[in-house]
Amino acid sequence: MQQWSRQQKAAGRRIAFVPTMGFLHRGHLSLLEEGRKNGDLLVLSIFVNPAQFGVGEDYEDYPRDLKADGALAEKAGVDVIFAPSAGQMYPRGYATWVDVEGITELLCGASRPGHFRGVTTVVSKLFNIVLPDIAFFGNKDFQQLAVIRRMALDQNMPLEIVGLPIVRETDGLALSSRNSYLSAEQRIQALTLSQSLAAARQLVSEGMGDSAQILGAVRALIEVNPGPRIDYLQICHQFSLQNQPQVDADSVLLLAVYLGKTRLIDNCFLLPEAVRCEG
Ligand code: PAF
Repeated sequence: MQQWSRQQKAAGRRIAFVPTMGFLHRGHLSLLEEGRKNGDLLVLSIFVNPAQFGVGEDYEDYPRDLKADGALAEKAGVDVIFAPSAGQMYPRGYATWVDVEGITELLCGASRPGHFRGVTTVVSKLFNIVLPDIAFFGNKDFQQLAVIRRMALDQNMPLEIVGLPIVRETDGLALSSRNSYLSAEQRIQALTLSQSLAAARQLVSEGMGDSAQILGAVRALIEVNPGPRIDYLQICHQFSLQNQPQVDADSVLLLAVYLGKTRLIDNCFLLPEAVRCEG
């Protein structure tokens, strides 16, 4: 893979890269579409990274369908699929980890210790192997994107990192490979996530700016139903991910909710784009 990339770059070609864990959905396809527009060549990686799953998490069960992914990738104009094995990525004796401090300890990092260390380690390896000029990630994993941006900046990685909008089902559910775990009943309950975000934005548009008040109202809305269990629900600054007592143009509402054993995440800015630009 690295040899191919070096040859292409030597020939002056720009490489766009979309790293994934496979089981591609429309969210991934939107990243590939943007990648296709932004590079002479488009590389897709498919690797279910064991290092970012904790003990008792869903590494073994994580959905995989390389054949279907191959067909979708071809249609999306992917030039190369890089799909290494776990043994190739972490051979015997492997001992090097990339660890971003601070913002990895909050939110998903608090609930899933070690998760982001696994993500940054594999993403930095993938960058070193694929040698992209530009890489695309979804805004659904908002904290992951912030962590990867931090890593790329701190490590002087010579590429552009682009975050793209969340892709949703028509009823509002953010697309995720983990949606495939949901029972019919949980699938209905999962609408709580996007409905909570909409309710929070509505409260802000009506003039509510106190984060504790907004979070209290959203929590009450979620807890009306017996199914969903909140892991976290926070209003944070988009870059530092620190809690914000008062909503402003940088405020993002981030939430993680369990439906049975399935943990789903979602997020949104609390002020519309136009207001944020002026803010
Ligand atoms: O978002 C994902 O699918 C993964 O966390 C990533 C970035 C491909 C690293 O394994």
